[in-house]
Amino acid sequence: MNDFVFHNPVKLIFGQGQIRQLEGELKNFGSRILLVYGGGSIKRSGLYDEVTSILQQAGKEVHELSGVEPNPRVSTARKGATICKEKQIDFILAVGGGSVIDCTKLIASAAKYDGDAWDLVTRKVLASDALPFGTILTLAATGSEMNAGSVITNEETEEKYGWGGPLNYPKFSILDPAYTVTVPKDQTVYGIVDIMSHVLEQYFHNATNTPVQDELCEGLLRAVIDAGPKLVEDPDNMELRETILFAGTMALNGMIGVGSKGDWASHDIEHAVSAVYDIPHAGGLAILFPNWMRYNVKVNPSRFARLAVKVFEVDPAGKTEEEVAMEGIDFLRDFWDSIGAPKALSDYHIDDSKLKLMAEKATANGPLGKFSVLHTDDVLAILKASL
Ligand code: NZQ
Ligand code: ZN
Repeated sequence: MNDFVFHNPVKLIFGQGQIRQLEGELKNFGSRILLVYGGGSIKRSGLYDEVTSILQQAGKEVHELSGVEPNPRVSTARKGATICKEKQIDFILAVGGGSVIDCTKLIASAAKYDGDAWDLVTRKVLASDALPFGTILTLAATGSEMNAGSVITNEETEEKYGWGGPLNYPKFSILDPAYTVTVPKDQTVYGIVDIMSHVLEQYFHNATNTPVQDELCEGLLRAVIDAGPKLVEDPDNMELRETILFAGTMALNGMIGVGSKGDWASHDIEHAVSAVYDIPHAGGLAILFPNWMRYNVKVNPSRFARLAVKVFEVDPAGKTEEEVAMEGIDFLRDFWDSIGAPKALSDYHIDDSKLKLMAEKATANGPLGKFSVLHTDDVLAILKASL
């Protein structure tokens, strides 16, 4: 494995009723708070009332930024940064899914920067300071609650990029499975797909001697494959919500990817697709990932075959490595179909008219991937296979 330093400073507060720790956590920060949330799910679930009454009780001065979009926009982060500057905000509290948290990460850094927030996303400027922020997660998917990544869309230029740095870690994240019970079926399915994709992106690497990392990935995938379909059938089941919530955090808090370099090309391609068509992130992944796998199976068939046998329970007897590998990919496709994930770009009414544009956007900053390096034509081939 490669040398590595692992440092994840996020205080994870996990379990039912753990919101009771919020007031204590807030004592460590200043009195002017920006509360950031999305399109209203937290009002419908009652979480908004719960959080605002804790903030009131704690004597905080509260300002709000609502309406953060799924695929959060830089224009919304700009609004948040302006509020922070005008109201001299000390601390930001994000309550929502990955989009709310990602937007908060940009607000926190843009609040301490005199230029335009988009400069930070494009890395024209590296953030040198940021407001502290905490999160209350309501949707199991991205891992943003315990990582330093943030994915932001520029709706004017139709670009969507991930960016991040040490200042982007939440100070704390409160994860209560009860807050995820109201997540509708489609978003529950997207969450499952996103979590599995994060593990797979990190599983496809070229480092050697990584048995611990590989087993962690395989174990996580098996746990999600077991719990995911049951949860889709039984969405109020708190134990299943708990399992998927924890899996989401473990899939992308940096732990399973130490000592190796994950691939991440499928994510980069998906970001280009959702930059142009504004589709749900993991809806795109469900379509693209199996096609990325088919396109790259020859790069290292034994890696795919190992996945097929250890995770997808393919029987290797009497089959070539490539046959086993392909059976594993078919299993993944069927599994995602079985829980109701989309399987083709046409499911989102996307035709071939902008495939080249999306391939060019995906590779605008250079070739993609580490396990397998993809150029614009390779991305175009994967997009065509995904129609
Ligand atoms: O906006 P509200 O009203 O809150 O509704 C949201 C939204 O419509 C709803 N929702 C969230 N919690 C709910 C709920 N509805 C009912 N009950 C609840 N408890 O779900 C919808 C989707 O929310 P969103 O936050 O957009 O979903 P997700 O967490 O999947 O985040 C997706 C975004 O994260 C980025 C994606 O690209 C996308 O922009 N990603 C961020 C990553 C990171 N920071 O590490 C990594 C990921 O790979 C991903 O790229
Ligand atoms: Zn993702």
